Amino acid sequence: MRPANMSIHTLLENLTASYGLATVLVLGTLISVSLLKTDSLQQLTFQLFIYTLIDAVYQNCFSPLSDIPGPFLCRISRLPNCYRLITGLQPFWLRSLHLQYGPLVRTGPHQVACARPEVWKDVMTYKVNLPGKEHIPHFGRDEAMYIIPPNGVHHIHSVHDDAEHHRIKRTIAHAFSEKALREMEPIVTKYVDQLITRLDEAVDGEEKGKVDLVAWLNYVTFDIIGDLTFGASFGCLQDSTLHPWIATVFDSLRAACFLGALGHFPWVKAVFMTLLPPSLKRIQSEHQNSSSKKVDERMASGSERPDFMTLLAAAGKDGNGLSREELHSNATLLVLAGSETTATALDGLLFHLCHNPAVYKKLTTEIRAAFENYEDTTFETTHSLPYMNACIEEGLRIHTPAPTDITRMAPPEGKMLMGHWMPGGTKVSNCMLAIFTDPDSFMDPLEFHPERWLGGQERERFEGDRLEAAQPFSVGPRGCVGKK
Ligand code: HEM
Repeated sequence: MRPANMSIHTLLENLTASYGLATVLVLGTLISVSLLKTDSLQQLTFQLFIYTLIDAVYQNCFSPLSDIPGPFLCRISRLPNCYRLITGLQPFWLRSLHLQYGPLVRTGPHQVACARPEVWKDVMTYKVNLPGKEHIPHFGRDEAMYIIPPNGVHHIHSVHDDAEHHRIKRTIAHAFSEKALREMEPIVTKYVDQLITRLDEAVDGEEKGKVDLVAWLNYVTFDIIGDLTFGASFGCLQDSTLHPWIATVFDSLRAACFLGALGHFPWVKAVFMTLLPPSLKRIQSEHQNSSSKKVDERMASGSERPDFMTLLAAAGKDGNGLSREELHSNATLLVLAGSETTATALDGLLFHLCHNPAVYKKLTTEIRAAFENYEDTTFETTHSLPYMNACIEEGLRIHTPAPTDITRMAPPEGKMLMGHWMPGGTKVSNCMLAIFTDPDSFMDPLEFHPERWLGGQERERFEGDRLEAAQPFSVGPRGCVGKK
């Protein structure tokens, strides 16, 4: 329940927000320095020690979140979560915590993780607050966790303000309508055909039968999204290698994990960003410049071909569209958000099909019964294949491309979640991997069973599954634009 003396709680929460185990690190340093026998330093060390102790007791026993179970270290410090984030093992760690502690787990002094389908409705779905309309508080973005593009202009994913995000999303959504996607189909098909040809060559080549499918799937998705965005592909399929532009993107993903962890310590992040070596800053801005140049060249070409840029430019004709700088930022984001995710979804699905011969056989039988020729397979005709669609849903559930947690922050007024009061500023994270493989939502959650997505008798064994738990594209105003 919401505590009556909310203001005292909020004050205490805010006061303790910047402290935790991290203070112990500072303390360690101070203790070593204080061995130099400077009285004032010893005093400061002692005061900090007492403060840390009080903070730990408060976080553990008296914080409004203290009734939510979780490991002791997580209750008093943000470090365990940040460490897992940096190592890339956070989703597995969160899943094991949920299995041990239940659907709500305290993962930091001011952070809880939720592994129930309710999180989609209660946290991710909300009414967008627009100027002049009634303001309804909702869980929002944690600004510190997002990185502003090097040109300093927000893209759809980094922008914090509801109204600004709404404006950008409305423009970008034009490029993802049913009609738009149908018009872009020939561009997609061109690269899929090229993939099949190149795979045939690779299989018949020197290393007969040995093909790194993960690499090839990345080649094809980066070529497709690159072409739709910049008007020219990266030539990955042609050269059988990832373009250097993409290599930089992969490197920046690792850096983003690190910066995401630093986002839990805003003051450390601020110092870190200031001290970033000039060489690193140069790589960042060169990458942004090269993307901006590609966008400028594409716009200067005046091509009317139906692709992202044509549609984004058309959507902006009413004056509410994206500025050139916003196009630069969003183009890079679209390539990043659309390529690696799709490749990962496909390689996960292929992995499970190869490991489940019965499913593979049933799928190929369905496809071969529906089509006589490869050319007959289109966006529209493949829509109506129930088993293929069930395989895709199950692939996205069990091998979700974005397995980590999406974090939201309780509004300053605080908000309820699953019967618990989340004070203002509490971070609520929903780990995709943990939710999609929660044994309370799915029968045999770690097994690949497309049948759970079918109707009728085939689904009987999975009758109790809560399919709405699996939302690989997220939901609500910040959900994926590329879902279709
Ligand atoms: C299987 C493939 C994909 C998966 C699993 C996926 C997943 C997601 C998820 C989970 C989010 C929400 C992230 C958050 O709230 O922090 C998201 C956002 C987004 N995705 Fe996707 N995505 C996929 C493909 C694509 C494609 C093909 C595109 C475009 C070419 C795309 C563009 C975007 C954009 C622009 C956003 C930001 C939306 C916003 O902030 O309003 N995604 N995606």
